Amino acid sequence: MQIPHAISVDSIRSTLATQILGRRIELFEQLPSTNLEATTLGESGVEHGTVVIADRQTAGRGRLGRTWFSPGVTNVYCSLVLRASLPSNRLSDWLSWLPLITALAAAEAIESVTSASISLKWPNDLLLSDRKVGGILCENVQASPSGPFQIVGIGINVNTKPEDFPEELRASATSLWNQTHAVVDRNRLIAQLLLELEHCVEELTEHGPQQLALAYQRRCSTLGRKVQASLADGSELTGCAESISQDGSLLVSTVPGSGPNRTVELRAADIIHLRS
Ligand code: BTN
Repeated sequence: MQIPHAISVDSIRSTLATQILGRRIELFEQLPSTNLEATTLGESGVEHGTVVIADRQTAGRGRLGRTWFSPGVTNVYCSLVLRASLPSNRLSDWLSWLPLITALAAAEAIESVTSASISLKWPNDLLLSDRKVGGILCENVQASPSGPFQIVGIGINVNTKPEDFPEELRASATSLWNQTHAVVDRNRLIAQLLLELEHCVEELTEHGPQQLALAYQRRCSTLGRKVQASLADGSELTGCAESISQDGSLLVSTVPGSGPNRTVELRAADIIHLRS
């Protein structure tokens, strides 16, 4: 295997074609978590579109309080500070679609830079051959001296070799290298990721989620599947994932035998794709 390229701001800028995202890029060799650093920067008033990247995280954060495996030199760990500017009656839909469109943008970026085919597990897991290759953690910071802002955190397993994953992740996680056997230049991938995300955020802000929802649904391998959902209150349900609602929730029709037959709207849940 070739040695992965080091990340550098100059290399990212050499292919970066964005107008706004990445006007300021902060690159660190190591951080506890890029989301945490981006939050600190957001509170200090940094501009919309500021990007924080680390080569390694010592306390990478995943959804639902999990940790995110974040070894050095091989992967992408990146967080953006966004300051939504739209009327309050559109903010709630904007916030609920943000994680989904970020996953969509990351999938598009990976596919334009590699030969991998990415599908999405609702709400925002990036899957490659049914195994997780990336994840998104969005956080909404309301109470800040600089005004409210959003953190969009993106982690992609890029050049990690299968044997370098911890034992407990080997069956469920993968990397781009693991499937394509080609070393990916993370600088190029980050530049493309920022471009795709800029397009998606602009579309969501200017025109709402309609077109993005269609693109998301085409990529979402959860739809039509039998799923098991773990809900925030600790309960579980099994059913068929039918569709995505207007606010990005997942509509699941529960299977007779696992309780009364009904359609449940999930706003946040951990989903497992079951074999039909
Ligand atoms: C998930 O659980 O699927 C979400 C994982 C998000 C990980 C990324 S890595 C960059 C950013 N910083 C963090 O601490 N987490 C996110």
